[in-house]
Amino acid sequence: MNLASKRARRRSSAQARAPGKIILAGEQFVVLGAPAVAMAINLYSNAEAKPNATNDGSIGIDIPLRYLSKSATPSQLTDIGGFLQPLRIAAEATLDHIGKVGQGVDVNVDCEIPIAAGLGSSAATTVAIISAVSQCQGADLDRREIFKLAFIPERFLHGKPSGVDQATCIYGGTIQFTRPSTVKPVQYRTNPVFLLCDTGIHHETKRLVGSVVKKSLVEKKLFRDYLDQVREISRGVVRALKTEDSVDLGSLMSTNHELLQKIGVSHPKLDQLVRVARRSGALGAKLTGAGGGGCIVAVCATARDRDRIARALRKEGGTPYAISRDVHGVVARPIVTVLK
Ligand code: MEV
Repeated sequence: MNLASKRARRRSSAQARAPGKIILAGEQFVVLGAPAVAMAINLYSNAEAKPNATNDGSIGIDIPLRYLSKSATPSQLTDIGGFLQPLRIAAEATLDHIGKVGQGVDVNVDCEIPIAAGLGSSAATTVAIISAVSQCQGADLDRREIFKLAFIPERFLHGKPSGVDQATCIYGGTIQFTRPSTVKPVQYRTNPVFLLCDTGIHHETKRLVGSVVKKSLVEKKLFRDYLDQVREISRGVVRALKTEDSVDLGSLMSTNHELLQKIGVSHPKLDQLVRVARRSGALGAKLTGAGGGGCIVAVCATARDRDRIARALRKEGGTPYAISRDVHGVVARPIVTVLK
């Protein structure tokens, strides 16, 4: 179906939701070309879009105040415009793509994914906006189109995104992702028992990715070796998921954490939580996302172990979450038909 035939004959309000993600292997190195393995999780960002009454081409973005108070850095609190900018860019890029520049839309966002914590809240939010805005103008974008469009706000925010965050929340499930756009679904029956734990320390993905890219240009040989190791780890993680070998999975995740420490993107609090998780019986643990704060993910032998490890992590000041796999990815639906 070509784009013109996908265009709206009528316009409606539309809702979309997109999941957050955890990375089981390969973050940071995926920007340099290694494959990453990521899983969509059952924490979501929701967007609702409707053509606005004035129809004057203005784009309204509304987010609940608690969203801002969760956003942590004081500069974000005083710069609400800057905080909203990537969301507005997502809406504008979508209208441009479907040939509806000048159509006004109002977008309401509600995100339950902790922000700046390595869980893909920005990609999930911009993907939900792209889906809701296109749907409310009657355009049905396919996943590849949403993937491409999501680079526009993601580049604004992160500088040099690999695409793994938006790919995971668009496709859902567990994927192996390689730049620029290879998405391989990883199918397995039983989900390992994962435990997520937030340090409460917020990070800036752009700065962290920039520092790793810089290092990789100086220490070329060392990084070639790291990339080989990450390729092996990612392959091993896919194999461990398929064979339901959580012991192997845990050990690969721990090795991946050591590599992330070596390239300087861990944080003392992340290392402490990883240590405590492992000491309390986790089969393995690593930071997940860009690093510098945010979350760790641990794999546990049983749900009972997970609960015990979660108690130990809470004592260390972490906020644990029991997560499960989202298998739907982004989902959008029109809600109200607007009569013209
Ligand atoms: C962030 O979730 C993952 C990074 O590898 C950045 C990216 O791939 O765009 C740190």
